[in-house]
Amino acid sequence: MKPIRYGLIGYGLFGQHHARLIQQADGLELIAISARSAASRQAAANDHEGVAVLSDYRDVLSHDDIDIVDIVVPNRLHFEIAYAALQAGKHILLEKPMALEVEQCHTLNALASEKQRTLAVGHELRLSSLWGRVRGLIDEGVIGRPQYTLIELSRFPYRQGSEGWRYNKQRVGSWVLEEPIHFFDLARWYMGSAGEPVSVTARGNSRDDTRPDLYDNFTALIDFAGDEYAVVSQTLAAFGHHQTGKVVGTEGTIWARWSAADARSDQSTYELTCGLGDNIQQETLQKPAGELLELADEVVAVATAVRNGTPPPCTGVDGLWSTMLCLAAEESIRTGHAVAVS
Ligand SMILES: NC(=O)c1ccc[n+]([C@@H]2O[C@H](COP(=O)([O-])OP(=O)(O)OC[C@H]3O[C@@H](n4cnc5c(N)ncnc54)[C@H](OP(=O)(O)O)[C@@H]3O)[C@@H](O)[C@H]2O)c1
Repeated sequence: MKPIRYGLIGYGLFGQHHARLIQQADGLELIAISARSAASRQAAANDHEGVAVLSDYRDVLSHDDIDIVDIVVPNRLHFEIAYAALQAGKHILLEKPMALEVEQCHTLNALASEKQRTLAVGHELRLSSLWGRVRGLIDEGVIGRPQYTLIELSRFPYRQGSEGWRYNKQRVGSWVLEEPIHFFDLARWYMGSAGEPVSVTARGNSRDDTRPDLYDNFTALIDFAGDEYAVVSQTLAAFGHHQTGKVVGTEGTIWARWSAADARSDQSTYELTCGLGDNIQQETLQKPAGELLELADEVVAVATAVRNGTPPPCTGVDGLWSTMLCLAAEESIRTGHAVAVS
C-alpha cells in the first residue's frame, strides 16, 4: 500500500512531537517540514535526516508529493495557513483552535467541502484510551441517558511559546481557545444524545493585572435544549496536570481522572469507574492514556480517513463548535449574560 505523505508546518514543542510520531508510524511518511527561524530549521534538519526543511510554508503547499499538511503553529496563523493549504488541494490536520473567529471556521469548512478535502481538527482526547472509552461506555448505555457532564483541569501555568505568543492576546486569541477548548469538545461529544448546545454562561478571572483578559481561572456552564447541561472548568494557577471527568446519566455515573507532572508524561496515574450506589464497576484501559499516545493515534487516524474517504475523528464541524463555544464563553464573561449559540 502506498504510504500517506505528510508535510508539517511549525517545528516548536508540539510540532516536534507531530514530526517524530509521523515518522514512527507504519504507512506514513514525512516529506517536508517548514520552520520559521534558522534555529528551528536546524533542529528539524538534525532530527529528521532526509526530510526537506523549508523556510516558507508555501513551499510545503506546492510540494506535489504531500497528501496531508499538518499545521502546528501559533493560533493566529491557523486560518491563513489552513486556507492556503486547502486552496492548494491538500488535506489538513489543523491543531486547535481551528481558527480565532467563527466566520473563519465556516470559510474553512466551505472550502474543504468545495475542494473535497479532509479537514481534521486536533482534538486528540477523542482518541484517548481513557477519554475515548468514556464515550464508548456512554454508547454502550451503561449510565442510561447523559444528563450532566463535568470536565475539570488543574495545571501549571501555560508555557510562553515561541516569541511569547501564548501570552500575547493577538497571537493566542485567548486562553479559553488554548486548552478549555478540548473540554468543550469532550463535553459536547459526551452529551451528543442531548442535541447541540444552545447557550453558554461563563466566569473567569486573571491573577495578573497586566493581562486581565487572559483568564487563569475559567468556568463555563453549557445548556442544551432540554434540562441537560455541562460544566467545563480550568485553573492555570496550580501544579502538575490533573484532569477529572464525570458524565452522569439516568442510570449512573462514569467518573474518570488522569494525573501526571504534565500532559505529555508517561508516568501518569489514571482511573475509570462507573456505577450507581453499591453497583460499581472499575474499568481496565486497553493501554495507558496521555497526550503523546493520543497524538500518535491521531496522525494515523487522520491518514486512514484520507485514504478511505471517511470522516476524521474530529471534523471541521466539531472544530467549529468547540471554537464557537469558547468565543461564546468569553462573550458571557465580558457581558455577564448567557450567550446563545447555534
Ligand atoms: N492538541 C493539543 O493538545 C496541543 C498541545 C500543544 C499545542 N497545541 C497547538 O499547537 C500549536 C503550536 O503550539 P506549540 O506548543 O508547538 O508552540 P511553540 O512551541 O511556540 O511552536 C510554534 C512553532 O511555530 C513556528 N512558526 C511560527 N510562525 C511560523 C510560520 N509562519 N511558518 C512556520 N512555522 C512557524 C515557530 O517557529 P520558531 O520556532 O522558528 O519561532 C515555532 O516553532 C498551537 O496552535 C497550540 O495551540 C495543541
